[in-house]
Amino acid sequence: MSPSHPCHDPSWVRAQRIRIDSTRMMADRVGATHGIRPAELAALAGRAKAAHDALARRRAAGELGFYDLPGQDTAPIDAAAAWARGFENFVVVGIGGSSLGPKATHQALRHPFHNLLPPHERGGPRLFFMENVDPATIAALLAMLDPQQTCVNVVTKSGGTAETLANYMVARAWLERAGLDPARHLIATTDPDKGDLRKIARAEGWRTLPVPPNVGGRFSQLTAVGLLPAAVCGIDVAELLAGAADMAARCAAPDLDDNPAYRLAALHYLAATAKGKPITVLMPYADGLKGLADWFVQLWAESLGKEHGLDGATVHTGQTPLPAVGAIDQHSQVQLFVAGPNDKMTAFVRLERFADGVTIPPLHKDSPALGYLGGATLGALLNAEQAATEMVLTDGGRPSYRIDVPELNPFAFGQLLMLFEIMTAFAGGLYGIDPFDQPGVERGKVLTYGAMGREGYENLLGS
Ligand code: PA5
Repeated sequence: MSPSHPCHDPSWVRAQRIRIDSTRMMADRVGATHGIRPAELAALAGRAKAAHDALARRRAAGELGFYDLPGQDTAPIDAAAAWARGFENFVVVGIGGSSLGPKATHQALRHPFHNLLPPHERGGPRLFFMENVDPATIAALLAMLDPQQTCVNVVTKSGGTAETLANYMVARAWLERAGLDPARHLIATTDPDKGDLRKIARAEGWRTLPVPPNVGGRFSQLTAVGLLPAAVCGIDVAELLAGAADMAARCAAPDLDDNPAYRLAALHYLAATAKGKPITVLMPYADGLKGLADWFVQLWAESLGKEHGLDGATVHTGQTPLPAVGAIDQHSQVQLFVAGPNDKMTAFVRLERFADGVTIPPLHKDSPALGYLGGATLGALLNAEQAATEMVLTDGGRPSYRIDVPELNPFAFGQLLMLFEIMTAFAGGLYGIDPFDQPGVERGKVLTYGAMGREGYENLLGS
């Protein structure tokens, strides 16, 4: 980041900080049956201290690398991005934590129709994802792209995920059929030592970037997993990391009052365990943040949905995350949120300033249904809708909180990522589970190996 970048200006940084209003989670706003009393938060102090101490211990032991990613040296990522920007297309092959983060960042920080822009306005290659192993999508994508002009980024932390490796093999054969040397079109983002993909990449001399072994898939957005596609498409990666660093510093305090991520985790935990809220909705009022909601769903679901506690007891923990987007879902799910079972809490994300101010023209002044809209901005309408939904929820005794984002830029997005990651890590401690493993996912992977005839995994189905 150049010394003249606004990130170095403390007043710019202060102005770009996201703000959290959690007052509508509390009993004085939504009643004591569904809202949280200060005494209930205070009673969590012992559990919160244990959760903080456990995180601190694991950090000190070098197990929680995601905290340290803002300070990483991005030179290898920058160099790889400079190479990949020479292509017209950049295809990310990955799934789960290896695709949701890159997608979310791109959606938030690039032009909504990035791939349709002419090259000189795009600021980088077109970006595509090979995520699911749905043959219709994969065949259609490859039929559309020119292999000569395509860089394929194979992203798998473990190097063993069947969907990703299958899609890689399909893409590789496609490159080879065009008479191309795969090593000049492929770049792997994977564990620095382990996994079959690392072995292949090493043997064939591909470009590679590491995923640090102490960063789990769904916490890997600020590693090369997310940063390479971001840098390739012209996103200011240093500003993204600066935002994450700023949030990590805000979330360093050990207690719930002074640590925004811990406080939100505690509110989620109490809502789920003491207030009958097994479901949490993440509802940004911005199309650019739809991907953030999808990314959060994996983070929250996979980290907290656990059968066993740290002591081995059967616990079946978790809170089901539901993505929504305002105002679209006001005409879809919101009826359920405001009038259905009071079993949800809602987290809103709202932008204070939109990238492009579109003013509704003052037309049809004589029409009651149209005239009142003239002269307002679309952003003001969107935020009025958010405020209305929030009010209806509160009036109905339904808890919610709101994150206000001054404007959607890399600094803000980095803050959001780090906030949710620390919140999730800490929530795991409150539940007494390990938020960094995913035995259920691993079991599914192993059964897939068995079903597809991988040696050593036979006879697993039906067991
Ligand atoms: O969070 C996780 O660890 C998982 O959801 C993984 O991201 C997902 O299973 C893909 O794994 P990999 O990146 O190893 O291919």
